[in-house]
Amino acid sequence: MKTKKTSKTKKTAKKAAAKKRIDTIDFANLQFGKIHTDHMVVVRYAAGKWGKTQLVPYGPLELMPSISALHYGQAVFEGMKVFSAEAIPSANGKAAAGKGKRRTLVYRPLAHVARFNRSLERLAMPQVSKELFVGAVEKLVAKDAEWAHRAGQLYLRPFMFSVDTALGVKVADEYLFMVFACPVGPYYSKPLNLKIETEYSRSAPGGVGFSKAAGNYAASMLPTKLAQQAGFDQLIWTDAATHSYVEESGTMNILFVIDGKLVTPNLSNTILAGITRDSIIAIAKEWNIPVEERKVAVAELVEGLAKGTVTEVFGAGTAATIIAVESITHDGKKYPLPKADEKSLSAKIYAELEAIKRGKKADARGWMHQVN
Ligand code: COI
Repeated sequence: MKTKKTSKTKKTAKKAAAKKRIDTIDFANLQFGKIHTDHMVVVRYAAGKWGKTQLVPYGPLELMPSISALHYGQAVFEGMKVFSAEAIPSANGKAAAGKGKRRTLVYRPLAHVARFNRSLERLAMPQVSKELFVGAVEKLVAKDAEWAHRAGQLYLRPFMFSVDTALGVKVADEYLFMVFACPVGPYYSKPLNLKIETEYSRSAPGGVGFSKAAGNYAASMLPTKLAQQAGFDQLIWTDAATHSYVEESGTMNILFVIDGKLVTPNLSNTILAGITRDSIIAIAKEWNIPVEERKVAVAELVEGLAKGTVTEVFGAGTAATIIAVESITHDGKKYPLPKADEKSLSAKIYAELEAIKRGKKADARGWMHQVN
């Protein structure tokens, strides 16, 4: 009897402690990815199969210093968002008036698991089933939903890395798949000043540029740091062979409005297939805006900026959402862009996406996945 009481008391104390942490967070001033929710999910792959999905408190992992992910980089990740949304919208598209509980809606989880598996395949890592991936996300979101409601959204970080401890360079046999979550605000808080990178490369044909391999981000650090020291917010990456075609920007894809058309570099094995990029293209096509996914030459871009035919430039990514660009610099020459306002295409598409993510508009495209 005494033992029972003690464990009950312990549980109550634990609950109170968890609640206390959420109450200490300044949700109006979140630094991107700095705060983590209370839990995380861990699944181990060994002997050719996946183990049980475990929901545990967010905290340190005990790992050997020799795990191969740290030495040879078999590590990939995803970035996803879950939103605190209004109750089910009624048939006319308006949210049901103040009744019912708020919902948590995960944005395009099936697109994320598909991209995760493409990254895993390229790095010779085992595939993760839809059920395992979405099940892990659901478990975490259901447990830490209060964090989503307080912040308005959570950034989810599913990731997987090899944990073999032998130093031979070979495809690992053991991995951990994990998911943790962060309450977040915007990744970028103001329009961006970008520099076209013509010296360093992020990605080469036949390489891993299309994947979310951790090493891609490591390779971008030095050039990005140098650009930031020179006063830019981010880079526009160009093709590795000639530096004469635009590929993507750091942390996001890049889109242009040129002569009233939405133009963006076509996907290839050197460009990340952004899910926000995909959503923007789908919405633009539905709105009968001409869309061109094609090679975009730096020369064409610079000429269009100088002539004023490039009227909008914006970045798109899960963390970045949709963010306006206020200037592009090439070869030391800065080209300012018109100030984005609510009439800008990027602002209209942003508003459409926000309405769906927040449950304010019916999700006709089936992009949102409700977690109960
Ligand atoms: C994302 O948008 O999810 C990204 O992965 C970009 C960055 C935060 C690494």
